[in-house]
Amino acid sequence: MLLYEGKAKKVYSTENENEYIVFYKDDATAFNGEKKAQISSKGILNNKISTIIFKMLEENNIDTHFIKSISDREMLVKKVEILPLEVIVRNITAGTFCKRVGMEEGIVLDEPIFETSYKNDDYGDPLINDDYAVAMKLATRKELKFLREETLKINELMKEFFLKMNLKLVDFKIEFGKDSNGNIILADEISPDTCRLWDVDTNEKLDKDRFRRNLGDLVEGYEEVLSRMKNL
Ligand code: C5P
Repeated sequence: MLLYEGKAKKVYSTENENEYIVFYKDDATAFNGEKKAQISSKGILNNKISTIIFKMLEENNIDTHFIKSISDREMLVKKVEILPLEVIVRNITAGTFCKRVGMEEGIVLDEPIFETSYKNDDYGDPLINDDYAVAMKLATRKELKFLREETLKINELMKEFFLKMNLKLVDFKIEFGKDSNGNIILADEISPDTCRLWDVDTNEKLDKDRFRRNLGDLVEGYEEVLSRMKNL
């Protein structure tokens, strides 16, 4: 049964009450849904790329919702309740950060920036701090501390992983969910839709900025990321 349809994915229930199926769609959206397109095979690429990243993180003791890949476009995952927080890490300046504070793109930051936004399209996913999150009862202080520590670990693992593929992990967004035992685990997807990835030598952008900023064919970029992963 379809439980939820988002901009890029659908979530279905299964016969097992502790498991869901995530289906990756071909839809691309940007600027809170203002720019839209159907991009044939994007869903397949994101499912494959997310699968490889979740497996890598699991091997490195990060708990995720990923159970297994079950088709080109679908993965079986643990049932979680998604926290209404978008967790963002920035290693190099880009995107909203540059717009917000007027810094130019491409500056390597001395320390990663950890950021949280309230996941709510009506309000444009506003940037919030811990006090907001606690006041809005989105998470407790203890949970926020865990989210920061876990996210910074994930950042180190992903930075190293992408560097082996000659890619710079500029920034990314992740989401966490609570499983049936109340544990917070990494959920959602990790793909070029949710990460900025630049070639180390040329700074070519191989992520969704190709779509957002008309920088080239999106599928070609995502295929390049997947083929570098397979060649590791
Ligand atoms: O737009 P911004 O610069 O804040 O994005 C930071 C990172 O988070 C980018 O990699 C972007 O792809 C990702 N992101 C996302 N979903 C959002 C907002 C940002 O995947 N709703």
